[in-house]
Amino acid sequence: MSLGLAIVGYGKMGRLIAQLASEYGFDVRVKFTRENNLHDSGIVPEFLQGIDAAVEFSTPDSAPDNLRRLAALGVNTVCGTTGWYEHLPAIHESVLTAGTGLVYSPNFSVGVNVFMQAVAHAACFFAKYPEYEAWGWEIHHSAKKDAPSGTLKKLAQEIRASGYNRTLTLTANRAGAHPGTHEIGFDSAADTITLRHTARSREGFARGALRAARWLAGKQGVFEFREILGELS
Ligand SMILES: NC(=O)c1ccc[n+]([C@@H]2O[C@H](COP(=O)([O-])OP(=O)(O)OC[C@H]3O[C@@H](n4cnc5c(N)ncnc54)[C@H](OP(=O)(O)O)[C@@H]3O)[C@@H](O)[C@H]2O)c1
Repeated sequence: MSLGLAIVGYGKMGRLIAQLASEYGFDVRVKFTRENNLHDSGIVPEFLQGIDAAVEFSTPDSAPDNLRRLAALGVNTVCGTTGWYEHLPAIHESVLTAGTGLVYSPNFSVGVNVFMQAVAHAACFFAKYPEYEAWGWEIHHSAKKDAPSGTLKKLAQEIRASGYNRTLTLTANRAGAHPGTHEIGFDSAADTITLRHTARSREGFARGALRAARWLAGKQGVFEFREILGELS
């Protein structure tokens, strides 16, 4: 039997998730946009009948309230919206209090999450060689609101957590329709080492979010996508 899915944020990602949902055993029963969910006015019990999970890809401004409302109404949620993580401790608390489940990530691509592990390993090696300095760079389509991307910030955190504590400059470009490229480089007088992930489309993000939503069914707690990757493979 299919599970009822709410799509919160019916933009580029929400539309793609709706197209692919049935492949993951979901039936899309409600879709929220700014228009029908101004100040969370749409996230109310009458519109969430038969909903087993929500996938939230909206805006940095609206995500925290959406996540709070969904938890309060007992809906397990996968959140891909970026740029709201200063609210994460409070949202974490709301989810635990409600006894619901949340999977979040600045990037639901399996490839990016493996790339992050490769970058962390590289940073651990380069930390030992003071002649190398590092940079991070990303490019996304011009409609993306936050810059640098949540993924680039996360890569920088991973690099720091791996013991690399020298120069690390981050830059971001916004242009055209680019679905997302992230690059980490290490440079010395002798050479340059570049690690790069390029998304060909948004499909990898949408499929990762749907796999996470399926995994989250019936679970409680707050998880980052990378923590559950091993259980999805
Ligand atoms: N984690 C990942 O893997 C990943 C991948 C891609 C993108 N993202 C992030 O996901 C988010 C959405 O990306 P996108 O490319 O789909 O953006 P988008 O095309 O601009 O779509 C955003 C959607 O959110 C809706 N929205 C605005 N306020 C809302 C509210 N209060 N309640 C419900 N919906 C609301 C908008 O509605 P209107 O059309 O009515 O304005 C629109 O449908 C961004 O933060 C982006 O950075 C994450």
